[in-house]
Amino acid sequence: MKISIIGTGYVGLVSGACFADLGHSVISLDKDKTKIRSLSQGKSSIYEPGLDEILKKNIQNKRLSFTTSYKIACQADLLILCIDTPAKKNGEPNLRNLKLSLKSISTELKKDIFIVTKSTVPIGTNQYIKNFFENSTRFKVNIISNPEFLREGCAVQDFFSPSRIVIGCGSKASRKIMKKLYAPLKLPNQKFIYMKVQSAELTKYAANSFLATKISFINKISQIAEHANADIHEIKTGIGSDSRIGNEFLNAGLGYGGSCFPKDIKALINIEKKFKIDHSLFSVVEEINNQQFSIFYKKIIDAIGIQSLKYSSFVIWGLSFKPNTNDVRDSIALRLIHRLADQVKHLYLYDPEAIRESFFHLNQYSNITYCKNAYEHMQNANALILCTEWHEFQNPEIKKLNSLKDKKIFDGRNFLNKEVIVKAGIEYFGLGK
Ligand code: UGA
Repeated sequence: MKISIIGTGYVGLVSGACFADLGHSVISLDKDKTKIRSLSQGKSSIYEPGLDEILKKNIQNKRLSFTTSYKIACQADLLILCIDTPAKKNGEPNLRNLKLSLKSISTELKKDIFIVTKSTVPIGTNQYIKNFFENSTRFKVNIISNPEFLREGCAVQDFFSPSRIVIGCGSKASRKIMKKLYAPLKLPNQKFIYMKVQSAELTKYAANSFLATKISFINKISQIAEHANADIHEIKTGIGSDSRIGNEFLNAGLGYGGSCFPKDIKALINIEKKFKIDHSLFSVVEEINNQQFSIFYKKIIDAIGIQSLKYSSFVIWGLSFKPNTNDVRDSIALRLIHRLADQVKHLYLYDPEAIRESFFHLNQYSNITYCKNAYEHMQNANALILCTEWHEFQNPEIKKLNSLKDKKIFDGRNFLNKEVIVKAGIEYFGLGK
């Protein structure tokens, strides 16, 4: 099948490469010429395990190509919209890029076509797209909502083993083409969930807001645990073993970041405001997420002492918003660095993949050094702060940690083994422990 992917951001790039790997003939479009040039050479702008190999393989076998031309993209049987919808200041998703793209498609359309929306869009957007084409082209445009549930860091794996494929559409022809699109995955029928377009749009927000709520829930319990001298890790095991609750997304810590949860919670609050529905639940989810940051920051200040802060230096482990990605969008680590940089003597930053990306966001500070490895400047720092739970931090070299001047570790993800650290004579500060 000939498909075109509009937008080569995270979802677009991964989906394009993976659909090509399934045997489809894929053209990925982006308006950014430089990006298209380097993607055409197999150079990906994102770090995503497994993606580079799939990109290179499918460019070589000519199943995947890149373009900036809508004329070329519109020759496909199916267009998949993966345009970014960043949050505006008021929390509403910005649909400017999506609308510009629709305009370009309508100009170049020469035949009937199926348009699939994978971008996370506010409820009613697919209806808007339908109306737009009805008024701007003589060709039949079938609109399908197919929200994406890929997680960064394991997006390739998620693509090939999806938990479900949600399809919002109103016609048999749309169902048929979507079945054909995913057929090479050989999924059982029950993995395909068909519904109204509006339900599919809201399903995406419901999934992300449920997970964000679960994180804020466990974080709130961790606040109580700390006062009650309980251990959040033990509580997680205690409740997660109930299959109705489940073990996943119950890791207390610095809270959720990234390009999805913060934006989608804001968008959902905005949708509620538009519908004039009470928006207290998701406002509290957001508030608890901010509380976790403030609690952690206060722990650092209290332990170091406000007077000593300007003479103190810190090693920070983890800059990406989560492990296995170089994505620093809405990264809590970067938020903490912005808060600390002007108040402390020096910050030594280390991340296995996200140093280059962080550099662009932090280049206004002269007291930051980027480390070649996790331990490079340990002896120059008073304390260590862990913000992202990369696997390589899990069993740290205790001897090297012991060279910290103040022998203090602040573990923002409750990732390190507290007992081992305390036994080595280092003070440990987690969240809810
Ligand atoms: C999220 C969803 O999990 C995907 O299903 C969805 O497709 C994607 O958003 C999207 O809308 O595109 P992602 O943002 O890649 O995926 O990352 P998650 O693994 O969901 O983590 C989000 C944040 O929550 C991270 O900052 C992570 O550190 C934090 N988190 C996660 C916790 O604080 N505790 C947990 O137990 C789990």
